[in-house]
Amino acid sequence: MSVCTPFNCNGLSKSHCFKNLLTSQFINQFQVTTIPHSVPLPSLHLSESSRCSKKRLKLVTASSATPAVEAPKISFRSKSPKDINVLVVGSTGYIGNFVVKELVRRGFNVIAVARERSGIKGKNSKDETLGLLSGANACFSDVTKLESLEKSIDNLGISVDVVVSCLASRTGGVKDSWLIDYEATKNSLVVGRKFGAAHFVLLSAICVQKPLLEFQRAKLKFEAELIEEAKNDEGFSYSIVRPTAFFKSLAGQVELVKDGKPYVMFGDGKLCACKPISEPDLASFVADCVLSEEMINKILPVGGPGKALTPLEQGEMLFRLAGKEPKFLKVPIQIMDFAIGVLDFLVKIFPSLEDAAEFGKIGRYYAAESMLVYDPETGKYDAENTPSYGNDTLEKFFKRVLEEGMAGQELGEQTIF
Ligand SMILES: NC(=O)c1ccc[n+]([C@@H]2O[C@H](COP(=O)([O-])OP(=O)(O)OC[C@H]3O[C@@H](n4cnc5c(N)ncnc54)[C@H](OP(=O)(O)O)[C@@H]3O)[C@@H](O)[C@H]2O)c1
Repeated sequence: MSVCTPFNCNGLSKSHCFKNLLTSQFINQFQVTTIPHSVPLPSLHLSESSRCSKKRLKLVTASSATPAVEAPKISFRSKSPKDINVLVVGSTGYIGNFVVKELVRRGFNVIAVARERSGIKGKNSKDETLGLLSGANACFSDVTKLESLEKSIDNLGISVDVVVSCLASRTGGVKDSWLIDYEATKNSLVVGRKFGAAHFVLLSAICVQKPLLEFQRAKLKFEAELIEEAKNDEGFSYSIVRPTAFFKSLAGQVELVKDGKPYVMFGDGKLCACKPISEPDLASFVADCVLSEEMINKILPVGGPGKALTPLEQGEMLFRLAGKEPKFLKVPIQIMDFAIGVLDFLVKIFPSLEDAAEFGKIGRYYAAESMLVYDPETGKYDAENTPSYGNDTLEKFFKRVLEEGMAGQELGEQTIF
């Protein structure tokens, strides 16, 4: 069931969550942020329930004693952030939560969609989830169900200007990837458009450039539909953010090195490289996409500051910071190929091993593929052409984790790029 929580910012009270307060008084009071008289209808598939709600929206408009003349549509970009409603899905994730905080800090009116039990394996209670989303208007709903999401937003009685999606499968399993990275993300587009969204910011991943994994295919399918949506409606735009590796994805061996264990890497440790980016820096980049005209209708690869780093260089940095003698365990990549071959064979007999086989492929992918801009013509990754953003360095991050531990950097059920 979807439940909207009290609005806890911008002076909106608990009662405003409920649809029965969608009165002309409410509309007048929050004129700038309420449903526009003419919501452009998305060219996306809408379920039966969406159509019903569309009629309800028309009713609200008809009863609001407004002259039949349509008001000229004002771009949300000309409004002040406090009057811009940004719907964030995936608001409780590693990056999503920083995005919520950054948008709140910049003064936007943020509606953060979440599950009542959020986090890895639902570790956060409802109250903890509300705490995570403080400053935003938390909206508990189910993004995997179009009707549920639509009803939740309808209950809020507001329009949406921008949708920001930081959704991602927490497992990287085949079905879950399609459910979250494609379907749930698309639900947020359909619902966002229905309530007036003119811009969609998608947190994707740089690795979709060379798609060999199911979650990459699911993300790419959504990206293509998002781009198509903007092609069909000049009043709608997108920004697709494709970041390189997150700090958390590179932190898995910090504790081991600290405990005197060797740093494990594949091949000679130079098979892949990345330009890691911190959560606050990436959140700031995503928040820039909300208003920046320069980021409209673009696919934006982005990495952190400094040069690209191979696993060997990351390991050397860790040993230096930990004050330990470098010790490397070099694992031949062929071991992974063998394991994947065995799993692929077993899946044919035991389909339930589908996810195990996929996890093997995910591991193989990140052991050998760089998280940098890829040139399909040359088949090479290009560190020089991978844009840098922000100030936080991996070195500073490693230092912090060595001193304070991994709190807040949990890897999830699978480490997914
Ligand atoms: N890891 C990397 O190095 C890396 C690099 C580049 C790009 N990326 C991409 O960045 C994006 C975000 O990654 P992240 O690490 O921030 O993700 P994350 O921490 O795993 O967060 C995933 C978000 O999606 C939500 N979600 C997942 N399954 C759901 C479900 N069934 N129902 C409702 N909500 C669900 C989660 O909600 P709950 O809290 O309720 O579970 C959470 O808010 C992904 O697209 C990822 O591929 C990652």
